Amino acid sequence: MANEWIDHTFDVVVVGAGGAGLRAALGAAQGGLKTACITKVFPTRSHTVAAQGGIAASLGNMSEDSWQWHMYDTVKGSDWLGDQDSIEYMCREAPQTVYELEHWGMPFSRTEDGKIYQRPFGGHMKDYGKTPAQRACAAADRTGHTLIHTLYGECIRSQTDFFIEYFVLDLIMEDGECRGVLAWKLDDGTLHRFKSQAVILATGGFGRSYFSCTSAHTCTGDGGGMVLRAGLPLQDLEFVQFHPTGIYGGGMLITEGARGEGGYLVNSEGERFMERYAPTAKDLASRDVVSRAMTIEIREGRGVGPKKDHIYLHLDHLPADLLHKRLPGISESAKIFAGVDVTKEPIPVLPTVHYNMGGIPTNYHGEVVCPKDGDPDAIVTGLFAAGEAASSSVHGANRLGCNSLLDIVVFGRSAGQRCAEILKPGARQRDLSNVTSDAALKGFDAVRNANGTISTADLRLELQTIMQNFAAVFRTGETMAEGKEKLDALWEKTKEMKVSDRSMIWNSDLVESLEFYNLLSQATVLINSALAREESRGAHAREDFADRDDEKWMKHTLGVIDFDGKVSLDYRPVHTYTLTDEIDYIQPAVRVY
Ligand code: FUM
Repeated sequence: MANEWIDHTFDVVVVGAGGAGLRAALGAAQGGLKTACITKVFPTRSHTVAAQGGIAASLGNMSEDSWQWHMYDTVKGSDWLGDQDSIEYMCREAPQTVYELEHWGMPFSRTEDGKIYQRPFGGHMKDYGKTPAQRACAAADRTGHTLIHTLYGECIRSQTDFFIEYFVLDLIMEDGECRGVLAWKLDDGTLHRFKSQAVILATGGFGRSYFSCTSAHTCTGDGGGMVLRAGLPLQDLEFVQFHPTGIYGGGMLITEGARGEGGYLVNSEGERFMERYAPTAKDLASRDVVSRAMTIEIREGRGVGPKKDHIYLHLDHLPADLLHKRLPGISESAKIFAGVDVTKEPIPVLPTVHYNMGGIPTNYHGEVVCPKDGDPDAIVTGLFAAGEAASSSVHGANRLGCNSLLDIVVFGRSAGQRCAEILKPGARQRDLSNVTSDAALKGFDAVRNANGTISTADLRLELQTIMQNFAAVFRTGETMAEGKEKLDALWEKTKEMKVSDRSMIWNSDLVESLEFYNLLSQATVLINSALAREESRGAHAREDFADRDDEKWMKHTLGVIDFDGKVSLDYRPVHTYTLTDEIDYIQPAVRVY
């Protein structure tokens, strides 16, 4: 059995080196805290690198704008499940956060007069929802790529200690507090125990629980998995965003920025059908609206292609030099993955899983919360989360495009800064007991020695197929109950898992098996949460409960899971108040686009 580890002590340990992790590490390190950043991939290979269209901020460079309009759109986009104190915080902080990136050298595209270029994006409007705003600050269609390289450079400058290609196995929890993490170093097989005053989880989403997604293969929700194993709840997992334009067949992202630059969707009748579904915003309605419209068109027989099972995205009417300048990345993706020359032909696209709105519940400082003694917002000492792994909750039931890059930098920064505010550099930390580490290593060894008959790849494919078919764009109680039954059966099958490689060095079979458990546990909470929520809100579209029901369901779901895959649900209130009195609470209304 693996039972020896190397001990490390830090003030702050950040898990994950995407935009949220790097920005959190930077905030903590700049605050004088000894900071470690542990990551299973090289930082600039984190999934943030794939973000394309932009980062939302009301700079007003290309059309009039204000943080209040941005906040209104975000609340409306969230279908009133977002916490308005967090949303206010994010939208107010947005301009300053973007300027900070600019001053660190992020190479944004520019207007003629040298300002940061901003394009329209779905759901972002002027004047409280009246006409489209240009709010997405873009670096061509490679915004995430430039952002992560900028942040990595700053982290190196701030002396963050990187532990690269370490896989974090579990949180070390003692007496309800988080005291560090246990990690496995992939290239030499050693085990490492990190003691710290605070742990910040910035491990991204779990898009890979679905068969077709825009997420990297590394998006396996490892932080969420650790939180569930620690007996803590995850919030609002039923809300899964489908991006309208994944490339048909492969799922690679074609940025919404393509529609922001003038692209449009058509059905087999050559009709720009979004005009019927969203007369004002049209192709730039929010993603849940566009994905549902596309699905209806296909279901009603107006899909394109031999099987009439997808939709066309036209960019071929746009000038070639604009495509080259503003959309070079997706022009290349369309050529490689769909064999399409975007200057001449439409791109075949389909709604594809893109983002988890839910995650580890936090307040706007990034502090993890878990109801206790009647307090729905009680803080879990020592534990923080930021980015897609977290639910702060700014996206509620549906995220607006470009609010994700914003979320990762705003809440990565707030988590790092909160640590700097409340922790003392070098403060003495009491010794760790071995109990949690021993238990985590027992679990690790059980997976390493799994000697059944079914490979992890087969179990994972089954999971992905179930989620794709039974927790899709449109849902019913009947289909989700069937999906839940199939997941229950899959938990049974995991007892027959076979891991072929028992070594500790570069054992990708074992990494994928540990990741599989993270995916499976979150997918199971997701489907149980979705089945329980008997309404339609944001991305959760139930055909058997077509309306939003604020009276019963304007509340956050909390789900925990036991070691056999049995889920228990609870709820906590949505924050129906703003952060300051500079804006009133935005009252629930019917969403009109
Ligand atoms: O379409 C996109 O470029 C994706 C942006 C986002 O998810 O925020």
